[in-house]
Amino acid sequence: MYDVEKIRSDFPILSRQVNGKPLTYLDNGASAQKPQVVIDAINQAYSQEYSNVHRGLHYLSNLATEKYEGVRGIIAKFLNAANEDSIILNSGTTEGINMVAYGWAMPRLQAGDEILLSVMEHHANIVPWHFLRERQGVVIKWVDTAADGSLDPQAVLDAITSKTKLIAMTHCSNVLGTVVDIKTITVGAHARGVPVLVDGSQSAVHMPVDVQDLGCDFFAITGHKLYGPSGSGAIYVHPDRMAEMRPFMGGGDMIREVSKEAVIYNDPPMMFEAGTPGIVQTIGFGVALEYMMELGMDSIAAHEAELRDYAMARLTGLNWINVQGQASGKAAIFSFTMEGAAHAHDISTILDKKGVAVRAGHHCAGPLMDHLGVSATCRASFGAYNTKAEVDTLIDALELAHELFA
Ligand code: ALA
Repeated sequence: MYDVEKIRSDFPILSRQVNGKPLTYLDNGASAQKPQVVIDAINQAYSQEYSNVHRGLHYLSNLATEKYEGVRGIIAKFLNAANEDSIILNSGTTEGINMVAYGWAMPRLQAGDEILLSVMEHHANIVPWHFLRERQGVVIKWVDTAADGSLDPQAVLDAITSKTKLIAMTHCSNVLGTVVDIKTITVGAHARGVPVLVDGSQSAVHMPVDVQDLGCDFFAITGHKLYGPSGSGAIYVHPDRMAEMRPFMGGGDMIREVSKEAVIYNDPPMMFEAGTPGIVQTIGFGVALEYMMELGMDSIAAHEAELRDYAMARLTGLNWINVQGQASGKAAIFSFTMEGAAHAHDISTILDKKGVAVRAGHHCAGPLMDHLGVSATCRASFGAYNTKAEVDTLIDALELAHELFA
């Protein structure tokens, strides 16, 4: 049985107060809190087991290397990748997508080639493609969301032309919570020879992910949203794409031999992991994923679906709140504006006084804000440890904000 109170007790920060009120943490889309097992793993790694990895032959270096390298297999299991060699360890989704832009797309794409994005992409899945537009004349094409925030996979497939070289798409919008039917997109895109990169930053937090079933070419995740440390992450790369990728950064672990004349690279995936990595962050990330798998991704998804339905009913019951994005099957992520012209920042300040943490602003999704015709929204994003009582606390705080601003 999913025991949310037990889960809450695993996260020490959830029992603190903020502004004299119990913390109601609804900013999981930005970053999730950490369970004690992750905090303990970080402490253990630094206090008893720390050394650089892949370098020394001494006891601590071997121990740290074993723990660090063990995380590759944990991530492969979490994503159901066939092989841990298809997992590149990195600092998070931003690095993962940039690695594909520099290491796979830049050497292959020519002026006039097209990359398809949805209008609800995070800047981390927009700006690297703008680099290619600026530097080599690649064309970015945008697929709009429908009025309810859903994305029609057929609209994505219909936008493919003979010039399309990549589809880069979120699996779950960080603003609207919309879940995208990646599998349909992948099947249709592959039939036309177009690879698919998936920004899995938000989706992997809320639902089971199976990269083999999705059939995608790249799937990027971020540790700090998955209850792990910041500065950790990974990207799954299909073996066929891995063979096509060129190193993005040079130095350290990506090298086998260096002479004055030449370099011999390590085999993938290490070929793509330059420099001393986030050793302890990655070890903590592995512990966080094991914690999630122990809770069960299906159970987390079922719990969050209940929260989503409850929060949607309560928020849409307030006729002065506009919930942006009401597609069916969305994750428990709610962006909203308040009628009466209160700015999102003002609303979030009132919520904060009540101990309720939300994000306010453009959420690193400028094109979506333009598409929605708003400059900013408030966003309440839920996680595995949130409760219906916290939805009620959010609603009470919004009612107070409405009284003040209306
Ligand atoms: N991508 C993070 C968010 O959506 C930072 O808030």
